[in-house]
Amino acid sequence: MKRIGLLSLLACALAGCKSIPPPTPLDQLNPQQARGHEVYQAHCQICHNDRTDTPLAGPALRGIFKKQYLPSGAAATDERVSATILHGRNMMPAQGNVIDHQDLDDLLAYLHTL
Ligand code: HEC
Repeated sequence: MKRIGLLSLLACALAGCKSIPPPTPLDQLNPQQARGHEVYQAHCQICHNDRTDTPLAGPALRGIFKKQYLPSGAAATDERVSATILHGRNMMPAQGNVIDHQDLDDLLAYLHTL
């Protein structure tokens, strides 16, 4: 009996214990999420992966709202992510000049599918 507990502990340690559900497939996005994906491609993709955990210039956005905290340690909330997008953060340039209110809403809808 004890061995089973140990085995699952080991499996958990090997898997990193942070398996999160995969992103919604692109062909299953609703219209707003699909619009958000276009915004992501235009303004974020160059620095952020969305469907892998590999960092580019910035951290991967896969599972961004499925985890409790952002890479910086801040709470993963719409408010916090919106502020990062609009005002930038350290090496991340502010996007507020190229992203309007509608773009931001659509982008957030997409980021929630990751
Ligand atoms: C020129 C490269 C670049 C672009 C373009 C860019 N980012 Fe970033 N992003 C970064 C870097 C670098 C960081 C790490 C900043 C830090 O915490 O030091 C980052 C961090 C983040 C974070 C994590 C913030 C935190 O608190 O940990 C989020 C979320 C994010 N970016 C979303 C986006 C979205 C959405 C877009 C598109 C609108 C975008 N970024 C465009 C470079 C970029």
